Amino acid sequence: MGELRGKRAVVTGAAGGIGTAIVSALQSEGVTVTGVDMRASDADHSIEGDLSDRAFCNGLPAQAVERMGGLDILVNNAGIITRGKITETTDEDYARTMAINVEAPFRLCRAAIPILERAGGGAIVNVASCWGMHPGPNHPLYVMSKAAVASLTQCLGMDHARQNIRVNGVCPNEVNTPMIRTGFATRGLGPDKAIDALNASVPLGRIAEPEDIADVIVFLASDKARYLCGALIEVNGGKPVQ
Ligand SMILES: NC(=O)c1ccc[n+]([C@@H]2O[C@H](COP(=O)([O-])OP(=O)(O)OC[C@H]3O[C@@H](n4cnc5c(N)ncnc54)[C@H](O)[C@@H]3O)[C@@H](O)[C@H]2O)c1
Repeated sequence: MGELRGKRAVVTGAAGGIGTAIVSALQSEGVTVTGVDMRASDADHSIEGDLSDRAFCNGLPAQAVERMGGLDILVNNAGIITRGKITETTDEDYARTMAINVEAPFRLCRAAIPILERAGGGAIVNVASCWGMHPGPNHPLYVMSKAAVASLTQCLGMDHARQNIRVNGVCPNEVNTPMIRTGFATRGLGPDKAIDALNASVPLGRIAEPEDIADVIVFLASDKARYLCGALIEVNGGKPVQ
């Protein structure tokens, strides 16, 4: 996707499982990447901070422009999974889940859109989840936060197409990252055995690797996706939400 060469991207959650793969996939297309996370990432520039901090989010796109000389692509990938039925969750769980999964993408999109517009356009890719489209059991906070990201993506896809800003989303099902592995550990399951069992439940024979998601994100960020606005692509190996 050579038309990405020379572009500049911000990727949140850049040090995580999917984020690391996004950074690497964009870099291999010649994109300069600013990675945002609580810890340093393999991106060309690392900005460390907490995305639940409103002022930090509001200022990030401008900070990235200072470092890279411009901005063409924003990938809202950072997220947390809050587990448990509603009766098992606290006010703090609600506030933190919404702050990181919903409010941060909202703030970053709001701050990035005028910058992208001034540059003649750009692409935003939001990482939602299959669970944001088809709820799964026992994770109401996570599911509603991902439904909000999916809806935000569809709204912005319509509202900003005239500014040549394409906003699209990916909706992965299970991906082999720390997010899913730590969930097994907290339920007392060995992660490797649990992954084997999950693999067998996917029609393609395995859960996703981070690269399977990153490749779709690179496509959505590129000109190959030039007529997609507000699309939500389920990347699920043929497995419905169960
Ligand atoms: N792994 C899956 O099965 C799966 C499935 C569907 C969707 N997703 C989504 O994919 C995205 C990436 O998930 P992952 O599996 O790579 O998870 P991960 O836990 O490996 O990575 C998430 C990254 O986000 C960062 N992060 C979290 N809160 C932050 C904050 N407040 N400020 C700054 N950085 C913060 C973490 O430090 C981490 O590096 C998430 O939005 C997740 O909801 C994952």
